[in-house]
Amino acid sequence: MDIAVIGTGYVGLVTGAGLADFGNDVVCVDVDVAKIDALKQGRIPIYEPGLDKIVSRNVAEGRLHFTTDLDAAIRAARAIFIAVGTPPKADGSADLRYVEEVARTIARYMNGPKLVITKSTVPIGTGRMIEKIILESGVGHKASIVSNPEFLREGSAIEDFMRPDRVVIGASDAEAIELMKEIYAPLHSLEIPFVVTNVESSELIKYAANGFLATKISFINECAVLCEKIGADVQDVARGIGLDTRIGPKFLQAGPGFGGSCFPKDTSALADIARQYEYNFQLIEAVLRVNADIKERMVDKVANALDGEVRGKTIGILGLAFKPETDDMRDSPTIPLINGLQKRGARIRAYDPEAMENARTIFDGVTFCKDAYETAEGVDALVIATEWNEFRALNLERVKKVVRKAVIIDLRNVYDPTRMKAEGFAYTCVGRADDIRVRERV
Ligand SMILES: NC(=O)c1ccc[n+]([C@@H]2O[C@H](COP(=O)([O-])OP(=O)(O)OC[C@H]3O[C@@H](n4cnc5c(N)ncnc54)[C@H](O)[C@@H]3O)[C@@H](O)[C@H]2O)c1
Repeated sequence: MDIAVIGTGYVGLVTGAGLADFGNDVVCVDVDVAKIDALKQGRIPIYEPGLDKIVSRNVAEGRLHFTTDLDAAIRAARAIFIAVGTPPKADGSADLRYVEEVARTIARYMNGPKLVITKSTVPIGTGRMIEKIILESGVGHKASIVSNPEFLREGSAIEDFMRPDRVVIGASDAEAIELMKEIYAPLHSLEIPFVVTNVESSELIKYAANGFLATKISFINECAVLCEKIGADVQDVARGIGLDTRIGPKFLQAGPGFGGSCFPKDTSALADIARQYEYNFQLIEAVLRVNADIKERMVDKVANALDGEVRGKTIGILGLAFKPETDDMRDSPTIPLINGLQKRGARIRAYDPEAMENARTIFDGVTFCKDAYETAEGVDALVIATEWNEFRALNLERVKKVVRKAVIIDLRNVYDPTRMKAEGFAYTCVGRADDIRVRERV
């Protein structure tokens, strides 16, 4: 099928490349000229493992193209995926200006019946709003509106797109549902479950999924706070509850609070959607408060490891992206952490394997280093903020030689507290009381 994907960011580019790999003819469109130029020259503008291979394969085989020419892309397409950003507004609601703009552009250039699919995460009612914009423009061609939310995770986006847990299709017209099944035919034959529902349910499924996962993270983060107070080990608690198949082990890793481009904005938007329908979504409101509180606690945790005073101290931060295997800095927990430490008078050195370019645009007064060991030079404390593999296997002897003080604050519970103490570090982590001996895991 001839497909246009509008918005060539983390989601649009993966969607475009994935749909081309399924055998569709895809053109990815963006207003960002530099991004499209880079892609045309074979350069991938974001860091996402495996994305370069799938893009170059499909470009070479003539199924994947890049353009800034929205008009031509819309005219040539039978199906149009909207994958533009829906960033948070100051009040927490989703900013739909890019989606609305795309809807108006589609209306302007429509030259026949089109399937208009929202891949972007959009509030309930957005599908209807797009339908209305197109109807009111009076072009007279039929637009079938489909909601098809995306659940990929940055860092494993290709695998997630090519083998998702499910495909959600929200539509009210039978032909649109059939066309969607055609587009995703290879997934159908892999027996990936398809959830076919109305547009509103599909729009809510995306927010409910992220809201639930954010709740799970906040739950274990609060357990971690309690563990520190009562002398328990949150890793054992997470394992002990996660082995219960009704709960499951994922998203039970205590840490510095959830961040990234989705969970913070989508939980805020879900709370806002509920408010608009005059409902107070108490659980999600609490999750938002807990997450803000946990992030603040991390600044205290670093300060406490330095006897309560960070003024004049130098702190090394290992990892800046909101999680490993991405360069995405949006709403990373390292932002309030570094800002909070700087506000209290600390000097910051920092390194991330992939997010340095993005980080430079966010932080002021941070000394960016070339690797973990340069970051550790002369620091009073080293903070493991993102669990990149290279920080899981640090040469601790080498670290000890270059730091000013052997203090490590491990916000991702990467290391074994007993071992770290034996290695001579003053070691703090999350939710693991000092006197807990790490038990042999069977
Ligand atoms: N990033 C994720 O992990 C993820 C996962 C699932 C869903 N989502 C959702 O997908 C959507 C996109 O997220 P993203 O992370 O890819 O955003 P992004 O910011 O990386 O990409 C959005 C792209 O849209 C382009 N754009 C904006 N207006 C445009 C227009 N009028 N015409 C053409 N292009 C335009 C921008 O230039 C940008 O390249 C959001 O709604 C997000 O919530 C994101």
